[in-house]
Amino acid sequence: MKALVTGARGQLGRDVVSLFSHYHDTFGFGRDQLDITDADTVRKIIREMEPDVVIHTAAYTAVDRAEEDKHQAFVVNAQGSQNVAAAAAEVGAKLCAISTDYVFDGQASTPYTEDSKVNPQSVYGQSKLAGEDYVREITDSHFIVRTSWVFGVHGNNFVKTLLKLGKQGKPLKVVNDQFGSPTSTADLAKLLLELVASNRFGTYHASNTGVCSWYDFSREIFRQAGIQVEVEPCTTEEFSRPAPRPAYSVLAHDALRENGFHLLQPWQDALRDFLGDWSHYEDLEGTK
Ligand SMILES: NC(=O)c1ccc[n+]([C@@H]2O[C@H](COP(=O)([O-])OP(=O)(O)OC[C@H]3O[C@@H](n4cnc5c(N)ncnc54)[C@H](OP(=O)(O)O)[C@@H]3O)[C@@H](O)[C@H]2O)c1
Repeated sequence: MKALVTGARGQLGRDVVSLFSHYHDTFGFGRDQLDITDADTVRKIIREMEPDVVIHTAAYTAVDRAEEDKHQAFVVNAQGSQNVAAAAAEVGAKLCAISTDYVFDGQASTPYTEDSKVNPQSVYGQSKLAGEDYVREITDSHFIVRTSWVFGVHGNNFVKTLLKLGKQGKPLKVVNDQFGSPTSTADLAKLLLELVASNRFGTYHASNTGVCSWYDFSREIFRQAGIQVEVEPCTTEEFSRPAPRPAYSVLAHDALRENGFHLLQPWQDALRDFLGDWSHYEDLEGTK
């Protein structure tokens, strides 16, 4: 199978390329090689490559900046996804497009299923939902995979930020009234590999199993990393940010279960794997 990956230099994109390369002819394109907002280039490259599957991880992911930069967020996340979907459909490739828990408003108190009502509160969430809609409209051969609270060895994320802050030793305040499920890019990439080998198309929720607040998550990061630092719980109100965050964005994994796919491991185990991989990367990059 030939796989083409958009956003190949991103946090998830890099792990997808490295895992897929072991199993398939895999071609990763970063933004400088394949700008998804340029419809002609997207079409040209996908026609030339003729992939069997396109893993579309590229996105405008600056959630707060998007509030001020609505046009660009939609150009990338909505029209960019439209371009990728149209080109994939033209060559008969399956499309696996990554989406987000931010399509929900966070007012629920039980996990969101794939059929739950969407109601994004932020520009980022709205633009990602518009991207999902294009994908559904353009090609039946799609997997839309909504994930949440992503962390991996590449790129910036909550775990790496906390490790850095924790090592500075100053007391920290972390939000304790937003709940979700952390998701490791390594685990998600493995699931994508399994998903795209099938023709069980549709919308899927994929996150590591278990639920926590950002505060719980931070405590577990420090516990596993053996870092002694004072962490105080705080409220979303105390930690105001430009874009609203869903208070509760736990994703139920009904579609994975119903279609016979494996569920991701508990988030604490994923964190343990990450810390092992990360210490190795830190050594390699000499950043310790
Ligand atoms: N991070 C999370 O917590 C989270 C949660 C839920 C869902 N997701 C979704 O998961 C997917 C992967 O996210 P991630 O964490 O890997 O994000 P990321 O590290 O920001 O990667 C996104 C990549 O897309 C690239 N990109 C931006 N604009 C582009 C364009 N016009 N054309 C081509 N590439 C472009 C970025 O390039 P530059 O670096 O050059 O901008 C970046 O390399 C995204 O669809 C995101 O919406 C992420």
